Amino acid sequence: MIMHIVGNRPQFIKLAPLYRALELSGYQQGIIHSGQHYDENMSDVFFEELGIPAPYLNLSAGGGSHAQVTAKAMVGLEKELSQSAPELVILYGDTNTTLAGALVAVKLGIPMAHVEAGPRINIKSNPEECNRITADHLSDILFCPDHVSMQNLQREGLSDRACLTGDIMYDTYLSIAGSLEGEKPQEEAIVMTWHRQENTSDRARMESILRLVERLEDHVIFPVHPRTKKCLEQYGLMERAKGIPGLEMTDPLGYVEMVKLMQRARLILTDSGGVSKESSFAGAKCLFMLDADVWEDLVREKWIRRVNPQDEDSVLEALRFAAGAKRVAVEERPRFYGDGHAAAKMVQALRERQFI
Ligand code: UD1
Ligand code: UDP
Repeated sequence: MIMHIVGNRPQFIKLAPLYRALELSGYQQGIIHSGQHYDENMSDVFFEELGIPAPYLNLSAGGGSHAQVTAKAMVGLEKELSQSAPELVILYGDTNTTLAGALVAVKLGIPMAHVEAGPRINIKSNPEECNRITADHLSDILFCPDHVSMQNLQREGLSDRACLTGDIMYDTYLSIAGSLEGEKPQEEAIVMTWHRQENTSDRARMESILRLVERLEDHVIFPVHPRTKKCLEQYGLMERAKGIPGLEMTDPLGYVEMVKLMQRARLILTDSGGVSKESSFAGAKCLFMLDADVWEDLVREKWIRRVNPQDEDSVLEALRFAAGAKRVAVEERPRFYGDGHAAAKMVQALRERQFI
């Protein structure tokens, strides 16, 4: 059996096409959910919308510190994987769930595939970076979303295990975007998402982001991640946010609604690795609120521009970038992340290298 280990919103989006591709080829599969994300609109909605079968086990590991989440997931995974002894474990991205899966599977001697291997921001204190490096170095086959990731793995001596498949999130994006074709275009807006530890663990930082939003003086639609909601409340900033003219806060969205939203974006303001890359699929340039270049090609193309909301010069540049941002037609969008058939390439590579 092939075992998928997931637990976070972006992992469900990555899982859907690979599960389907393996199913079409007749492989027996199971899904273990760590429970790291657990709200209906952070988890179940993606299984329903993307046609992923319900996980047969949920480890309820969510809601604690890094160590608590990782440790709880590890204990549950160790028990389950030692009983079910899958022939292959598939891990996704860079979350604490991925880290837990990698540490447990390697010690049980189970071969591992890592989807979305290779991106680096070269900041050791970033939690996602630690998780991704660990998963990459422990996995037996590494599926890279772009050339830059392949080069990063080469520098770390991992070329033998690396395969360039393109980005599996593009597979999912295209299938949803295809199902939305013909829908009436909605009024343009700026779309914002924001949830990283670097942007939520400090009141002054959060306030500076709200000030930036205010200075955009535009309609900004903001599906609020539960961590961000909690921190806005904890720092007494929720009323301040609600008072910003033009800022529309919503609950986290399912993926179909999120794609619709990105398709009406004239600009995306985010600290999300996934959303900043999807901005190029959906045709909206991106202001990225983290001191890191996750997607180097998009930065070089000036599609993604970094903004430090606590630095006045950086904010002024960002406001200029925002003022000039317009929707970009399909044929003019950059294409660095494959052809939307990453899942099929992963299945082929797994077969060729005799993992399945
Ligand atoms: C995690 C990942 C991050 C990824 C993000 C995707 C790590 C280190 N971080 O960050 O890489 O970008 O998922 O969204 O694994 N919460 C809820 N309900 C939920 C989920 C979370 O209320 O369904 C709240 C809880 O208070 C929780 C907090 O949000 O403690 C943070 O959740 P957590 O999963 O630890 O981190 P994310 O910010 O979601
Ligand atoms: N997303 C979503 N609903 C939302 C916000 C994001 O479906 O309300 C999708 C988004 O389009 C992308 C993925 O979730 O596909 C990114 O997840 P997130 O930003 O939580 O994580 P990251 O990419 O930073 O790891």
